[in-house]
This record gives sequence, structure tokens and C-alpha cells, in this order.
Amino acid sequence: MENLQLKSFEEYQQAYKRSVEDPEGFWADIADKFTWRKKWNTTLEWNFEEPDIKWFKGGKLNITENCLDRHLKTRGNKLALIWEPNDPKERFIRYTYRELHERVCQFANVLKKNGAKKGDRICIYMPMIPELAIAVLACARIGAIHSVIFAGFSAVAMSDRINDAQATMVLTSDGLNRGAKQIPVKRVVDEALEDCPSVQKVIVVERLGWAVNMVEGRDVWYHDEVQGVSKDCPAEEMDSEDMLFILYTSGSTGKPKGVVHTCGGYMVYAQYSFMNVFQTQESDVYWCTADIGWITGHTYLLYGPLLSGATTLMFEGVPSYPDNGRFWQVCDKFGVTIFYTAPTAIRALMAGDIDDVLSYSLDSLRVLGSVGEPINEEAWHWYYTHVGKEDCPLVDTWWQTETGGIMISTIAGVTPMKPSHAALPLPGIQPILVDSDGNEIKENGVEGYLCMKFPWPSIIRTTYGDHERARLSYFSTYKNLYFTGDGAKRDENGLYRIIGRVDDVINVSGHRFGTAEIEEAINHNEHVVESAVVGYPHDVKGQGIYAFVIIKDMPEKEEYLRAEIIETVVEKIGKIARPDKIQIVSGLPKTRSGKIMRRILRKVAEGDTSNLGDTSTLLDPDVVDEIKAGAL
Ligand code: WT7
Repeated sequence: MENLQLKSFEEYQQAYKRSVEDPEGFWADIADKFTWRKKWNTTLEWNFEEPDIKWFKGGKLNITENCLDRHLKTRGNKLALIWEPNDPKERFIRYTYRELHERVCQFANVLKKNGAKKGDRICIYMPMIPELAIAVLACARIGAIHSVIFAGFSAVAMSDRINDAQATMVLTSDGLNRGAKQIPVKRVVDEALEDCPSVQKVIVVERLGWAVNMVEGRDVWYHDEVQGVSKDCPAEEMDSEDMLFILYTSGSTGKPKGVVHTCGGYMVYAQYSFMNVFQTQESDVYWCTADIGWITGHTYLLYGPLLSGATTLMFEGVPSYPDNGRFWQVCDKFGVTIFYTAPTAIRALMAGDIDDVLSYSLDSLRVLGSVGEPINEEAWHWYYTHVGKEDCPLVDTWWQTETGGIMISTIAGVTPMKPSHAALPLPGIQPILVDSDGNEIKENGVEGYLCMKFPWPSIIRTTYGDHERARLSYFSTYKNLYFTGDGAKRDENGLYRIIGRVDDVINVSGHRFGTAEIEEAINHNEHVVESAVVGYPHDVKGQGIYAFVIIKDMPEKEEYLRAEIIETVVEKIGKIARPDKIQIVSGLPKTRSGKIMRRILRKVAEGDTSNLGDTSTLLDPDVVDEIKAGAL
């Protein structure tokens, strides 16, 4: 496993230097360590204007051969995947690399039998059960493009994504377990598919054993389809730049963007970053708590670990069920050595009883990770002290759906670690800070907008079906730079600290929502005239959702109205986007040209109205006093 890893700070510095001076040589050496059906002709072709980025052009491969087949000889009997169910009393499941390989090939054959082929878009809407991991890999095996939709999204959100991708097949389950609750997943799919004419087949995995509606000619059970199907399925040969997957994420407009990643570059960067950041060893039991419905689950639950031949743990449940000790109990149960989670989970557990942590040994842990949002110092110290026993490097990993993999992070035990700092970029990554005119800020001890000045293998290639949107969102704000949408500081020693989004995107428990997307949902409510949504600091979620709403008429009770507005958001997006606070207002602070002054709303939502700046240029300055007086 070691041949991709940097083992000391000196090695890091040398590698970093080389990656800037000779990026193509640097990446070609790394890419050489993978299994290619045919080697690439050119390592990199790029321009950030269009953008047009091609890594390992002409190379032929299949990522599943790298995740599975290439390990069979040496790691056939090693555990690839451990699955822990929601209910601790239910039996866990384990798959060796050989078994996982068979299951993936078999699922791939089921896909083919049902008409799936290379280039098709397949939507996967499934809970965290082994079949989800297997389904994703099965798509990759046959060259179908997977688009995983987190199973907490609503039917409307699902159908928007399916229609955008023109998916022909949906893979799902009858229902799902989440803590003490059971949720009817298939019913949500049925509702979504009322508006999705492109979908021809639905394959349903049985999880709860519920009787579900099966549409004749469209819906089939996985357990029926798999009967007698071969466990042998040659991998489809893919071009480096063929699409591997689409993953929808929120931007600053209402419509989610289909971020596109391609086969070769994504593969190379997933393993490279995984092995380096976590410094994985052959015997590790690695656990990433993210759902496969998010990019973290794609890259660091599934692809990164399997490419590396590691043992990856997948958990169906939640941190608080049956009690707040669940994460730590699972760590002890399987001897987890590397644990990667989100600050929101840490903050939620921090608010509970300390004995929920202290009663577990946790002595197998070696490395801790954090991802999804800035980790505040208090949470950092709690995690480092009580979970890591002050003996595990804690890596704060900054990256995005669009970057495909970790960009700025401490490399465990190799590069400097500082609370609440992602610290240094990985070799191959060239971050810069710019001022609002796009001029690079070169010194240290500064703050600016975080950009990248050179491509890396897993950079976003396009937004599905709308290339111009990718250009406008990431490559047009500053010329010849990829703009992340984040603000960051760089301390005196050059270590980065990510401050958060500077665009109209809010980060709730590590999940991204565009304010426009939530406003659009709220505005669907029949009583609503207009709304404005901002984020505000929230103790557990990082950011909470604060909605200012103008209404036409008040239903019988104000409380009903709030409940109804929340219901509308749940219907259009999902429970995860529920507003925390709804303030009814008679107007919004707008400039004369009609633009909502979100800066003012943000201040009100933060509870800081001491300095709202100049409000005299507003269309209706009085509205600000009313909003201040009614703040929640
Ligand atoms: C946004 C990306 C990448 C996996 C999960 C989220 C924020 C992510 C950190 C971190 C501070 C972070 C940024 C980024 N973010 N990791 N370690 N420190 N902020 O993926 O939904 O694409 O969101 O999450 O604001 O832009 P995503």
C-alpha cells in the first residue's frame, strides 16, 4: 500500500515542489501505479476559460478493476466491506474482496439483463445497505453513469434530478431504517416517477420486507432478478474522460447542478488522497460515517478505500440510536483504526453525556478526520481529547463535491496540525487567495477568496447538460482560476483556515443548500408572496436556516402557517432543508433596483443589529426597523 504515500515532512515538501514544477510528471508517476487497459497519450490538456480539462487522455480503464479485480490475487480473502445495521441487535455483514467482486459482477449482470448499457444514467436512491455500495460499483462496471440521490431527498427533488440527467433506470429499496423510524422509500420513488418519462425500469432491493406497489413492466425485485445470474461480468472498457458519475449539489440558483466526474482522473485522485491524508496501513479498519448519497461517501467510503485495498465500514444508522454511544460502540466492536466524520455529529454528541464516550475504550483508533464544514475549536478539542485520547492526529479535510477529493488537509502525522485549520494543500494542489478584484494575495497572515490556479485530476469537468453553468459558476468570477466559493485565511506559517461560503450557499450540518433553492420552495406555499433565506450560526448544525417571509393572507393561526411553510420545503426538497426560524415580515430590505440586501438579513438572523451599515439607500428603510423588532 505504501508506494503512494508521503512519509515525512521532507518528502511532502519535495513532492509539493515537484508537483508545481512538473505537474504532468508528478501525476503520471502516480497514475502509473494503477491498472490501465491502455496507457494514456497525454497526461494533461487544459484551459480554465471554456473550461476544457482532460487528464490521461487516450487512457483506457475500468475503475472497478482497480477497486476489485487487481486485489483478488493478494487480498482476495481480506475484508473489503463491513456493514453494520441500524439496529445493534441485527447481525452485521462482511464481504471479502472476492465476495464483493462477485456481488458487484452479479448486480452488473442484473443491470444488463434489465436493459442498462454503457453511457446510460442510472439513478440510485437507496438507504445505507450493502446493495447501495454494490449498485454503485455495478454501474461503474458496465460503464453506466451513476447518479446517487441521498435517500432523504423528497420526491420532487428526486424527479428534478432524474429529469435533468434523463435517467433510464432507478435502483431503490422498499424502505429504510433510521434510528427508531422506518421510512417507505419506494413510495417516494413512485411519487417521483409520476413526472419522469425517461425511466423505464426500477429495481427494488428488499430491506424491510414491506409490501410495496410494483408497477407491472417497470418494477422488479432484485432478489427475483438475481436468481441464476452469473457472478462473472467482464468490466466495460472506459476512456479516461468518460463520465463515471453525476452528483447533484446546490449552487446559488434554484436548480441543483449535476457535477460531473470522469473515470481516470477521479480514480487517481481518490486513492492518492485517501492513502496520503489518512496514512492508511494494510491492517486498518477504516470508517467514514458519511452517506454514499454525498461526495464524501463516494470518494472516502467507497472508491478511495477500495482502490487502496482497505477494509471499509459502512453504517446504516445514526449516531444517537439506540443511544449517543453508538459511534464509539461500533468503533470498539470492529476495532476501527481510522474514523472520519462531520463536525455536526461531534457537536451533537458533545452536547450529550460525556460518559457516552468515556465508557468505550476506543484504543484501536489511530487517526481521526473531520469534513463538511469548519470545525470550531471547542469541537476540535473535544474530538481530539475524548475520542482520540490526545494520541491520534486529527485531520481537518477541506474539499467540495466539485473537487472530487480532499484538497487542503493535514496529512496524518506528516504535515502540521492546528485546531480548526485544514492546514496545507496536498502535493498537486495549488490554492491561492485573491482579493475582490482577483489579485493574488501573496503574503501570509491574510484573508481572501479561495481559488485554485492549476487543475488536479478529479476537478469537475462540467455540469451535466449545461456546460455554460459550470463555466459561470466556477471559472468566470476570476480569470484563469477555479473559484471555490469559500473564504479562507492563511496564517503566518502558511496554514489555511477555511472560513466558509461567501456566496448564497448555506451549509447545514455539512449539507449544502442554495438560499434561492429554499426560497423557491417556500414561495410555492399558497400564502407566500416572497421570501428571503439566510444562514445563521447554529450550535449543532453549524448553520441554521432563517427565512423571512411576506404573506398574502394569514391562515387561522400563525402556527399553522409556519407548519405549512415547513411542510412545503419538506415536500420540495426534503427534511434536511427545513427552516429553523420563520419570521413573517411585511417587506424585505431591497435596493432601489430590487435586489434583496442579504447582508442586513444575515445580521438580523445572527442577532447582531448594532451595525447594519447604511440603510438609507434602501427602497423602504422603515422595513428594517420592523424586521429588527420582530427578530426571532
Ligand atoms: C463546502 C463543500 C467535501 C465534502 C463534504 C461537503 C465546506 C467542506 C470543510 C472543512 C471548512 C468545509 C466548504 C465547501 N467544507 N469541508 N474541512 N472546513 N469548510 O461537500 O457539499 O460539496 O460542500 O463545504 O464551504 O465549499 P459539499
